[in-house]
Amino acid sequence: MDFFTKFKLFYKKNKDRPWGRFLVFLKNFCYKHKYLFPFLFFKQDLSVAREFFSNLPGFSKAGNYLEEGKKKGLFRQKFSSGHSGDFDCMILYALVRAIKPDVVVETGVASGRSSWIILEAMDENKKGRLYSIDLPKYYSGKIPASYLTREGKEELCGFVPEGKQPGWLVPEYLRSRWTLILGESRKELPGLIGKFDKIDIFYHDSEHSYENMKFEFEAAWPKIPLAGFLLSDDIGWNNAFKEFLVKNKHKFDCAYRNFGIILK
Ligand SMILES: C[S@@+](CC[C@H](N)C(=O)[O-])C[C@H]1O[C@@H](n2cnc3c(N)ncnc32)[C@H](O)[C@@H]1O
Repeated sequence: MDFFTKFKLFYKKNKDRPWGRFLVFLKNFCYKHKYLFPFLFFKQDLSVAREFFSNLPGFSKAGNYLEEGKKKGLFRQKFSSGHSGDFDCMILYALVRAIKPDVVVETGVASGRSSWIILEAMDENKKGRLYSIDLPKYYSGKIPASYLTREGKEELCGFVPEGKQPGWLVPEYLRSRWTLILGESRKELPGLIGKFDKIDIFYHDSEHSYENMKFEFEAAWPKIPLAGFLLSDDIGWNNAFKEFLVKNKHKFDCAYRNFGIILK
């Protein structure tokens, strides 16, 4: 049992005791100021990702790829705005390594962190192609401004620094397996999906409105084969993911840090 699992058990057992208030304070403080402890949170994400794979039916060995993935350069580069988190990237890497997909489709590229990790895994597999759709939004200055969406969530006004291209983080040596389509997912996704008999993994990380998430999930699902995956970031922004789970038969699902995973 690793440190975080032990801490979780200890926390659950003791948080309601009088001195347990200190534990609650400590946990909340660390979470609120997690940028002060990137190493701690990376370790915690890794621990949850390992646990996830040990529970995922038929994929218990996929967790071994986490060790390989964590050495990839992108985990040391955190300078793009609104990028997929470490946990998401760990899962993407290990899943792509484990199922060795022919086709992965993602929506939402920004500076290209998730595209980069998927392509790293495909490069190790020596197999597969990634199709990404992105409607690029640029920002100037050090950090992008933000606004409140209709659903009351804080969204960034821009994701790619002015002067850079969407997906600029992705190294040159990985690009031969990548097709990047610029445009709105609602317009581009149906045509793209229509080209394939199957999509082994679909990953949503574009516009997180209820309508758009529902649209993308429903468009991709029929092309995902049994033992394929639908993944989504920011599932807590609205009910689209929850409703989709209820309506569609699947083998397994789980969620962590707003990242949702469905095994068909
Ligand atoms: C959260 S970011 C994606 C982060 C990316 N997965 C990464 O790891 O860096 C969302 C991206 O989706 C783009 N986007 C927003 N609305 C979109 C839409 N309707 N269709 C396609 N892309 C969209 C944004 O411009 C932005 O680049």
